[in-house]
Amino acid sequence: MTSSRSRRAARLGGAALAAALLTATQATTALAAPGDPGEPRYSAGAPSLGDPYFPDQGNGGYDVRHYDVTFSYDPATKVMDATTVITAVATQDLDQFDLDFRGPQITSLKVGKHPAAYRRDGQELVVTPRPKLKTGETFTVTVTYAGTPPVVTDPDGSIEGWVPTDDGAFVPGEPQGAPAWLPANDSPADKATFTFRATVPEGVTVVGNGRLVSRTTADGTTTFVWDSAEPMATYLATVTLGNFVVNETTTPGGIPVYTAVDPRLVTQSAAAVARIPDILDYFSSIFGPYPFNQAGAIIDRAPNVGYALESQTKPIFSSAPGVGTMAHELAHQWYGDSVSVGKWSDIWLNEGFATYATWLWTEHTGGATAQQTFNSAGNYGRAATSSFWQIVTADPGPEDMFGNVPYNRGAMTLHALRGKIGDAAFFTLIKDWAAQHRYGNAGTADFIRAAEKVSGMDLKAFFDVWLFQKGKPASW
Ligand code: TRP
Ligand code: ZN
Repeated sequence: MTSSRSRRAARLGGAALAAALLTATQATTALAAPGDPGEPRYSAGAPSLGDPYFPDQGNGGYDVRHYDVTFSYDPATKVMDATTVITAVATQDLDQFDLDFRGPQITSLKVGKHPAAYRRDGQELVVTPRPKLKTGETFTVTVTYAGTPPVVTDPDGSIEGWVPTDDGAFVPGEPQGAPAWLPANDSPADKATFTFRATVPEGVTVVGNGRLVSRTTADGTTTFVWDSAEPMATYLATVTLGNFVVNETTTPGGIPVYTAVDPRLVTQSAAAVARIPDILDYFSSIFGPYPFNQAGAIIDRAPNVGYALESQTKPIFSSAPGVGTMAHELAHQWYGDSVSVGKWSDIWLNEGFATYATWLWTEHTGGATAQQTFNSAGNYGRAATSSFWQIVTADPGPEDMFGNVPYNRGAMTLHALRGKIGDAAFFTLIKDWAAQHRYGNAGTADFIRAAEKVSGMDLKAFFDVWLFQKGKPASW
């Protein structure tokens, strides 16, 4: 193997070569000479990506490309037996790195073929790879674990992670539930592809993101393999399982749709399920092509959860949804899932867009116009004295990130922007936004820049009033 020292010496000649050889001689005692760019400078990857809402989330020093999660789960015992293989690329020379993991007891951990030392500290799983990892190196981390994955409680008191139901488990991950069942770089800024291989007692159905690759029954168990080919944020991963009535169809526009509905909720959710093809085709017409190779919905009975989540390709509902909630979660496939925030304070870009999409759907189907919804009592019609106006849209804080403000004031911001720049510029803007940031991350500053570009207007004062200031906007 060529050391970096001799490679560097080979590029040099004359006096420079002599100097390099002298350095090389000295370097036999001190392996990495300080300030020498040719030598690996191993250090620990950051234990955080610095999001103030969830400071433990995410880690530095590497970039995950793929998660391969193989597990068995028995709803009767609530015990999971799992092996997750993470494929990642080092972005610095690493002698240590962290993963986020809240799951059960680890029995083995390897980096490549080599068992690695590790320790757990809260949700940090600190790994010491030997041999160390070099910048640009692709490596695997194989983690084997067993036990009952936890329910995670959020700052607003809601629950997520691995939530047992009376016939299986409901698995929502936003904003910090994914590490309940897989070790991960749990930040929306590090997207990856996923494969899930789940073995459950025969009769139980597992519904994951992406496409169903295979379903094999033997000896009283069934193994489901789900593959998510497009990059996905960890919080959008799900493997919700239980008794489900499955239906497959294709929209008139050609999008494959897979729905799984708890048999007890089929009647109550029939109207919302029936509209999925129309909603997807309508949104495709105004937002641009549906971003994924699969669409659908998972409708389960998880009464202690009480919210729905836009899990990628198949949103999950903890009770029978109405058409409006269905439209909201499907709109997130463009805004939230394909184009994702990189930091949680930008959550209005997810929730404001999904909420505004339902205003447009309502108008499209003959209900209230978007302008009427904007003016209504729950929106601009709220009294100026309402506490609603005292939360900052573009930084609501972790306790209000799923409160009314990112949703409703976020949607109002978009409607007001549409009035300001006109329909042509507005609809070009939101379509371009979906196309330009497809499978990526984008933030509020990017959106303001894009709006100014498409309209040719200076919109700083407009966005300041709607996104960054407290108080009911009076003029903009
Ligand atoms: N993002 C979800 C939606 O609006 C809602 C959601 C996700 C949520 N996680 C949550 C709401 C936690 C309350 C608490 O579709
Ligand atoms: Zn939403």
